[in-house]
Amino acid sequence: MAVLVAGGAGYIGSHTAVALGEAGRDVVIVDNFVNSSRRAVDAVRVLSGAEVALVETDLCDGDAVRRVFAQHPITEVVHFAAHKAVAESVGEPLAYYRNNLDSLLGLLEAMLDNGVHRLVHSSSCTVYGQPEALPVSESAPLGAESPYGRTKLMGEQIITDVCAVRPMDAMMLRYFNPVGAHPSGTLGEDPNDVPNNLVPLVMEVACGRRETLQVFGDDYDTVDGSGVRDYIHVVDLAEAHVAALDVLAGGYRGAVAVNVGTGAGTSVLELIEAARRATGAAIPFEVCERRAGDVAKIWAATDLAAGLLGWQATRNIDDMMADHWHWQRHHPDGYRR
Ligand code: UFG
Repeated sequence: MAVLVAGGAGYIGSHTAVALGEAGRDVVIVDNFVNSSRRAVDAVRVLSGAEVALVETDLCDGDAVRRVFAQHPITEVVHFAAHKAVAESVGEPLAYYRNNLDSLLGLLEAMLDNGVHRLVHSSSCTVYGQPEALPVSESAPLGAESPYGRTKLMGEQIITDVCAVRPMDAMMLRYFNPVGAHPSGTLGEDPNDVPNNLVPLVMEVACGRRETLQVFGDDYDTVDGSGVRDYIHVVDLAEAHVAALDVLAGGYRGAVAVNVGTGAGTSVLELIEAARRATGAAIPFEVCERRAGDVAKIWAATDLAAGLLGWQATRNIDDMMADHWHWQRHHPDGYRR
């Protein structure tokens, strides 16, 4: 009995693989290492102490996916593997639709062919677009605003349609903003090229690789004018996946989307203050134009996660910054050093 972790060498996938191993599951990581490192898999093995098999392949290759199911005793699947850069998806929509949807379709077909019916799928709060009311609940209107976001929305729709007519049960976890790193400092986020997200950029400024941070707008209708997000520690997020698989193993039937956030919003300026506390660095910043496509504020309603998964986040913004900094300080070049 093993759990297939598709994209298990990536940032969230690797932390989840550790949590699954710690929870006593055998793990089969499938990854093509396009945006991830073999060293993350080494770290997962050390940290989890579990049996961790690795298959290097592209999940868009249906034959290769079928071989994984033939060669390993897979009983459940967690699917992370996807392209995830919002701006890149606007320029390369076909690459995003092809990669993010093909990998999901191939996995679902292989699961049905092999009688595997428990799926936890990575979704995103991006499916809410500009939320009308906060905190945003799972029943809020949906409408993603980038090709990336639409692959997440379509993924949820595909899974829901399949679960309605086939023996397949799924938890689609809508992540808010994952940050932080494993407290050991040996597993963390390792962006290719220039980071897209706020916290990796803040950490690059803290360690002197970047002179200043750009704050995208200070005239939003928020506590201090800067954008507000629901940042969640990646280890809390990893634990939500274990809880979701346990609920599926306990007999949950159907497909459901569940927010995974803390329920609290933090502004960009508040996050910079937290990063200053954690790092002791000055973190200079300049206020710039708003970034196209950004929402002013979003944070999660967390009652469904608490009620259905019995899960809630336990780590606060100071924990997130301290752990992210611990990783960044020891691995300024990610897994390359
Ligand atoms: N920000 C800055 N300066 C930067 C980078 C970001 O001020 O250099 C601000 C943004 O404007 C935003 C906040 O920091 O207010 C967070 O931005 P991120 O890029 O870290 O995260 P987003 O909320 O934009 O993106 C996240 C995920 C996406 C997902 C999206 C849904 O990374 O995958 O949420 O809204 F699609």
